[in-house]
Amino acid sequence: MSAAVSLQDLTAQLEELEREAARSIAAADGSAALEELRVGLLGKKGRLSAVLGAMGRLSAEERPLVGQRANVLKEQVQGLLHERLESLKQAALSERLERERLDVTAPCRYVPPGQRHPLISTIEEIVDIFAGLGYRVSEGPEIESDHYNFTALNIPPHHPARDMQDTFYLAPGADGQERLLRTHTSPVQIRHLEANPPPARIVAPGRVFRRDAVDATHSPVFHQVEVLALDEGLDFSHLRGTVMAFLKQFFGDLPVRFRASYFPFTEPSAEVDVQWRGRWLEVMGCGMVDPAVLEGLGIDSERWSGFAAGLGVERFCMVRHGIDDIRRLYTSDLRFLEQF
Ligand code: DAH
Repeated sequence: MSAAVSLQDLTAQLEELEREAARSIAAADGSAALEELRVGLLGKKGRLSAVLGAMGRLSAEERPLVGQRANVLKEQVQGLLHERLESLKQAALSERLERERLDVTAPCRYVPPGQRHPLISTIEEIVDIFAGLGYRVSEGPEIESDHYNFTALNIPPHHPARDMQDTFYLAPGADGQERLLRTHTSPVQIRHLEANPPPARIVAPGRVFRRDAVDATHSPVFHQVEVLALDEGLDFSHLRGTVMAFLKQFFGDLPVRFRASYFPFTEPSAEVDVQWRGRWLEVMGCGMVDPAVLEGLGIDSERWSGFAAGLGVERFCMVRHGIDDIRRLYTSDLRFLEQF
């Protein structure tokens, strides 16, 4: 038989439990500690269960008094546990917000976006102007055959004009055909006319290659834009008008002159100079498409006539931006490129 228990004893125990619970819950520093307290206070083997166990030894009238008090205490403790857990969560959140605070006024490292290379923007501008005049873009391969680069352009084997352009030759292709890096964009004229019946109005931008030593005005790789117009009744005045309209739109009012020249695929031929920094600078070759070129393509040269031009992109770019050395366009020096 266990020792007698009085109502006062149990009530005092419950009061003590209440004070202690309040103190320890307030001191708990995390959810694990709170769970430990919950088990110790309200669990099956916890302090409250011990009081309720002893209750059986009270009289039938006293038991409900302790039972009621115990129930109130249980709810109280559950409430305290919940509140403490919530306030710990809130504190953790505030602490984290404080720690991860972003100072939007702090100075930052500005990384500028990339920009167009001046050669690319020059090509785009040239092509845009011709597009505005009704020309379409046409393109051809950089690796060409002797036929398209020379023969079809009225430059037969051993013709002295081949010496005008020192060529990079490649090993023959699988078909045994001689291959080379195109020395100009003019072969695109032939490829276009072969695939499309006249009339034609095209611009063909691209890279070209020549065995030139590098200096301030020469590079073995450079860029051209080819222009071709073929229609009924075109004559030199159309060529001149088109070139003048283009140059005016690109450069504004720079002085321009046409000089008689020679190209095997045009007759008559001319070179065009613009005056820049007190000197005449050649920017393109042009002329009326030689009837022999058209006949070679099976095009009736009595009916169709046209003009063609080849523009040196680097020259246009250098005049536009006041660049005095072509090598600057290829050395990828950011201090230079960032200016455009
Ligand atoms: N293909 C010539 C060259 O690279 C430039 C040229 C001259 C192109 C006259 C033409 C033209 O279309 O009519 O030197």
